[in-house]
Amino acid sequence: MADTFRALMLRQGEDGKTVTPEMEDVAVGDLPDGEVTVAVEYSNLNYKDGLILQGLGGLVRNYPHIGGIDYAGTVEASGDPAIKPGDRVILTGWRVGENRWGGYGARATAKSGWCVKVPNGLDTKRAMAIGTAGLTAMLAVMALEDHGLTPDAEGEVVVTGAAGGVGSVAVSILATLGYKVAASTGREAEHPYLTDLGAAAIVPRAELEEEVKGPLSSERWAGAIDNVCGPVLSNVMRAMRTHAGVAAVGLAGGAKFDGNIIPFLLRGVSLLGIDSVLCPIDRRIEAWERLASQLPLDKLDALTTVAPLEKAPELAGEILAGRVRGRTVLEIGG
Ligand SMILES: NC(=O)c1ccc[n+]([C@@H]2O[C@H](COP(=O)([O-])OP(=O)(O)OC[C@H]3O[C@@H](n4cnc5c(N)ncnc54)[C@H](OP(=O)(O)O)[C@@H]3O)[C@@H](O)[C@H]2O)c1
Repeated sequence: MADTFRALMLRQGEDGKTVTPEMEDVAVGDLPDGEVTVAVEYSNLNYKDGLILQGLGGLVRNYPHIGGIDYAGTVEASGDPAIKPGDRVILTGWRVGENRWGGYGARATAKSGWCVKVPNGLDTKRAMAIGTAGLTAMLAVMALEDHGLTPDAEGEVVVTGAAGGVGSVAVSILATLGYKVAASTGREAEHPYLTDLGAAAIVPRAELEEEVKGPLSSERWAGAIDNVCGPVLSNVMRAMRTHAGVAAVGLAGGAKFDGNIIPFLLRGVSLLGIDSVLCPIDRRIEAWERLASQLPLDKLDALTTVAPLEKAPELAGEILAGRVRGRTVLEIGG
């Protein structure tokens, strides 16, 4: 094993605010403690990575820092009884890339119990095309199913922020499972893309942002996966069918929404929180197995763009501005 590895290092400026990314050679001995050492092949770009790369959101407290909340690669050393050297593994969440160094370098360490083996049917590159966003999409689908949603339910399942990472995977999975998917997007140019992923209807974001009077509107949605929050979530809540569930995933449109208790009381609507970061390992393994078998590879490839790690700082601005389509895989050492 070489003594150093290439990484995109983030250094904080003297003002304590600005963050500068630079490709550097880093000593293997500087990696944080962890029972598993991984030769990282691929990482990816999530909304949270965009924040970290720009020093936003207060997610990183200690610099210099290596970001990358996801990685996949081959195990070099392991003290985790479930993982052996040579295994292909996926790491997402656990605050990796936030409070410890992450996947934007060719070596990374993980604690015991954090890695999931790449399931049959996927490789490390496609696993990173899925990444946190795809895992979260599947966790949201599973939460709606646990709540009682089935493909023969009356009404459509709405996915907001549909052309983003979580949204694109959610649309693909739901359509493959036989749900009638309504994809809500703010980008007209992405309507054909979403239809190709399986959306049966497109709902312009502006339609869901309109001010609606009263706590209820006519019942439309059999289920919802919301990546946006803000007025969009308020309106989605109003139009849920009786006893339907909303999986609350993200806040791309802001962290606040105006709620009214009436949809909960008169229609028995449930708001289901989705957390991919500290999700228990058994639930992750189940979600990854389902992703490998229920997310068609042609759809996954259609929603994936590949870029070198050096491009991550530039792409950070794009994802924060809502201009990235689907998922972006970053080539690390693969
Ligand atoms: N709960 C969890 O565990 C978890 C895990 C992963 C991600 N998340 C969160 O989920 C959200 C989506 O993540 P992602 O990786 O899919 O991000 P992404 O790829 O950036 O997609 C977000 C999408 O939201 C829409 N959007 C962007 N800015 C908006 C605005 N100002 N108002 C309304 N809609 C806007 C855009 O979709 P359109 O162009 O189609 O409108 C954009 O593509 C983020 O907030 C992320 O932090 C949560």
